[in-house]
Amino acid sequence: MLPFSLKVLFFKFFQLLLKWSTKILTFRTPELFSGPGSSLQLCEHIATRTGVKNLLIVTDAMLVKIGLLKAMQDRLTELGVRWVVYDGVLPNPTIDQIETGLGLLKKEGCTAILAIGGGSSIDAAKVIAARARNPHKVVHMAGLMRVLFKPMPLYAVPTTAGTGSEVTIAAVVSDPSTTRKFAIMDPKLVPVGAALDGALMAGLPSPITSATGMDALTHAVEAYISRNHTPMTDAEALEATRLIMQNLPTAVREGSNIEARQNMAVASFKAGVAFTTAGVGYVHAIAHNFGAYYHLPHGLANAIILPYVLDFSKPECTDRLAKLAEVSGLASGGESALQLADKFIAHVRALNAEFGIPTKVDKLKAGDIPAITDKALSEAHWTYAVPRYMDKPEFEAFVAQMLPA
Ligand SMILES: NC(=O)c1ccc[n+]([C@@H]2O[C@H](COP(=O)([O-])OP(=O)(O)OC[C@H]3O[C@@H](n4cnc5c(N)ncnc54)[C@H](O)[C@@H]3O)[C@@H](O)[C@H]2O)c1
Ligand SMILES: [Fe+2]
Repeated sequence: MLPFSLKVLFFKFFQLLLKWSTKILTFRTPELFSGPGSSLQLCEHIATRTGVKNLLIVTDAMLVKIGLLKAMQDRLTELGVRWVVYDGVLPNPTIDQIETGLGLLKKEGCTAILAIGGGSSIDAAKVIAARARNPHKVVHMAGLMRVLFKPMPLYAVPTTAGTGSEVTIAAVVSDPSTTRKFAIMDPKLVPVGAALDGALMAGLPSPITSATGMDALTHAVEAYISRNHTPMTDAEALEATRLIMQNLPTAVREGSNIEARQNMAVASFKAGVAFTTAGVGYVHAIAHNFGAYYHLPHGLANAIILPYVLDFSKPECTDRLAKLAEVSGLASGGESALQLADKFIAHVRALNAEFGIPTKVDKLKAGDIPAITDKALSEAHWTYAVPRYMDKPEFEAFVAQMLPA
């Protein structure tokens, strides 16, 4: 068996290839509408500029129930676009939910898709769009660059801030038959248009606001400390971090503050731009498994795991964590990089405490840790350019820190 240090060289070489590939493949970003009310501008764009006449709206039942789609549906109807709603998406969407949506799309003869919702709805819509134009099953698209043909045109209106799925190359899918949550990553999945409409987020309950906001923060931080960062991803990640630190506590306390909501929507998009090129890291690799095993909401899982991973990674990214502390407004002058890095990690813990996010994972079972470790490491090591690596025994002990007391 190869010693771990040699394996790490292979991982680093593979990740360097990925970094080079992102220089060649410039990732498209969606045509963007931004600001309160911009979701209606996107509907006007679809109706008047794209020639789409028959649209599948992919969403979840809760959003239909609270009437979040109504204004967009009315505008589309006024402008002569027929729409049909698929509202069967649930948090951590499954292959079955995607196949059911695809069935409706085919039955109704839709030619484009509008996703309205959180990351779950947008991810499900991305895969429905890919399935509509590709012969492959969902599992065969798992991994990097496995979507052969251009998907059906997809438009996205995020209602959480969030996953950044409206701009990323990723779609995350759960397969309950194998307790696996996997990512499909392909630049072809980036939506062709998106609207960042903070007004749609005014009614997002505060626990979902805080968890999804911590997901956006995790994207920014993991992209910033990734070895595959670039000057572009650094700028986007730092600006996203600044906006999140300034606006997330307000958005959680005062949900109807549209300025804070809009700033969070922009931050989530920017964090998505950053991680779509620089990648994420161990936090996401573990969080995907906590989602698959225990149905932990994605943002909540990230929020719990983030400070642990930052403590572990700190020796290899102290200066970068110090810079994150600076843009978070935590520097008072004269501190060393190490002191600033510690301040940043302590601040992430303090935010979690303020939001009532626990430090342990209630449902985590010691007996699951070896399998979680295998899955998380196979996701992370060939894809994520983490600043500091763990081998299997170290990773098992690391995850065990999150066992309930
Ligand atoms: N594609 C990517 O790049 C990417 C990145 C990170 C995470 N993800 C994936 O995204 C999924 C999580 O998405 P999410 O965190 O946005 O949550 P979600 O889409 O699962 O939604 C969570 C809950 O919030 C509710 N909700 C959403 N918007 C609302 C609103 N405006 N008002 C009231 N309720 C609202 C939904 O009904 C749902 O019950 C996970 O599967 C995760 O793995 C994808
Ligand atoms: Fe995420």
